[in-house]
Amino acid sequence: MTAATGAQYSAALAAPAVTRMTDIVMPEQLNHRGTLFGGVALSMMDRAAFVAATRHSRQTVVTVGVEQVDYVAPVHIGEIVEVQGVITATGRTSMTIDVTMVAEVLLTGERRLCGTGRFVFVAIGEDDRPVPVPQVSPPQA
Ligand SMILES: CC(C)(COP(=O)(O)OP(=O)(O)OC[C@H]1O[C@@H](n2cnc3c(N)ncnc32)[C@H](O)[C@@H]1OP(=O)(O)O)[C@@H](O)C(=O)NCCC(=O)NCCS
Repeated sequence: MTAATGAQYSAALAAPAVTRMTDIVMPEQLNHRGTLFGGVALSMMDRAAFVAATRHSRQTVVTVGVEQVDYVAPVHIGEIVEVQGVITATGRTSMTIDVTMVAEVLLTGERRLCGTGRFVFVAIGEDDRPVPVPQVSPPQA
C-alpha cells in the first residue's frame, strides 16, 4: 500500500515538456549584498538547460554558447527559486533552450520574474564530435 494514487503515478511519470528545477536560496549562495549571486543563478539556469537538452536529444550534451542572460530582479535569501527550460529551436546538432528564473515568496506565494537566459547546447558522440538531434517546430505565433 502506497500513498500515491494511479493518477499521481501517471502524472509523475509523464514526459515533461518543460524542465522545472526548484530550490530554496540558502546563505552560501548569496553575494555581498545578501541576494542570490549571479554566478550561482547562471549555474542553475545552465543546469536546467542541460536537463532540457538531454531530455530532448537523449545524447551527451555540452554547453556551447550562452547567448543572453538578463537578471531583472534580485532573488532574496529564503525564497524559492524556480528555473524553467524549454527547447525553442534546433539546428542539425545544436539545441537552443530558453530559460526563465522565477522567485517565489515562501509564505505568500507571490511570484516574480527574476531572470531569463538563452543557452545553446550541442549533442556529442563518443568521439566528442557533434551528432544530429531531433528537430523541433518553431513556436506557433
Ligand atoms: C561542442 C563542440 C564539440 C562543437 O565543435 P565545433 O567544431 O564547434 O562543431 P561545429 O562547428 O560542427 O558546430 C556544431 C554546432 O554548434 C553550433 N555552435 C558552435 N559554436 C556555437 C556558439 N558559440 N553558439 C551557438 N552555436 C554554436 C554550430 O552552429 C553547430 O550547430 P548546428 O549543427 O545545429 O548547425 C566544441 O565546440 C566543444 O567541445 N566545445 C566545448 C564544450 C564544453 O566543454 N562545454 C562546457 C562548458 S566549458
